[in-house]
Amino acid sequence: MYKQLQQRGAERPPVNVSTLAGMKSKGEKISCLTCYDASFAILVDEAGVDLVLVGDSLGMVIQGYDTTVPVTVDDIIYHSRAVSRTLVRPLLVADMPFMSYSTPEQALGNAVRMMQEGGAQMVKLEGGAGQVEVVRYLASHDIPLCAHLGLKPQSVHKIGGFKVQGRENEAAEAMRRDAKMLQDAGADIVLLECIPSELGAQIAKDLHVPVIGIGAGPDVDGQILVLYDILDITPGRKPRFVKNFMIEGGSPLGAMEAFCAAVKAGTYPAPEHCFS
Ligand code: KIV
Repeated sequence: MYKQLQQRGAERPPVNVSTLAGMKSKGEKISCLTCYDASFAILVDEAGVDLVLVGDSLGMVIQGYDTTVPVTVDDIIYHSRAVSRTLVRPLLVADMPFMSYSTPEQALGNAVRMMQEGGAQMVKLEGGAGQVEVVRYLASHDIPLCAHLGLKPQSVHKIGGFKVQGRENEAAEAMRRDAKMLQDAGADIVLLECIPSELGAQIAKDLHVPVIGIGAGPDVDGQILVLYDILDITPGRKPRFVKNFMIEGGSPLGAMEAFCAAVKAGTYPAPEHCFS
């Protein structure tokens, strides 16, 4: 019944927002992977991953869509519930799908479902200045939050494809401002996708909350990749930041352990995984 208290003294207690904040202040890198089912959740946990995201990337890697746009709240809840049944130590984050947070009230209703029905401990939404009001509203209701900036895959049809963001000075400055506003509105984590490494480093320095990158260079507080990409399951051309960890890991668990070790040691991402 007092599981939270009993686990506090464990050798590796469950990760929460304070653990992540402490890791940032100590300079310990945060390792994160996506996960969509109970079997992989056991391995991801055993490998030592700190944060697990039930990403709407499941629309592409599980459901076979070309984008994340068709994914629904029910889809995320289904997969999050499966992951939550076997995950023990990592913090479980669930992605809010396209148009599931277009008003503060709608966002709160869906975030509550993801936490109560899906077992999520934090929700993630894509957004910049336009989402500040939603973030403030969720934070005022004590919903733990991750704000996703840079390349926002749910906006793919608006931005005209999956492309590096923040290369021009004006766009980079706007992203720095947005990141600060989202943090100040109550975001507990900021996630940056596909941006120049220098911009990733600046934002990580600007913020006191942890900054997790995917294609955002080595100088952020942690790294996340899509599980199926590190396991080399995804066929065809892959984004520049993807690394196949099966080569050094040799098995699914080995690949996850190799990813964690490389993130902690700062050897992933290497220059060939980064944007300038
Ligand atoms: O949906 C997802 O998997 C994500 C990661 C790429 C960060 O948002």
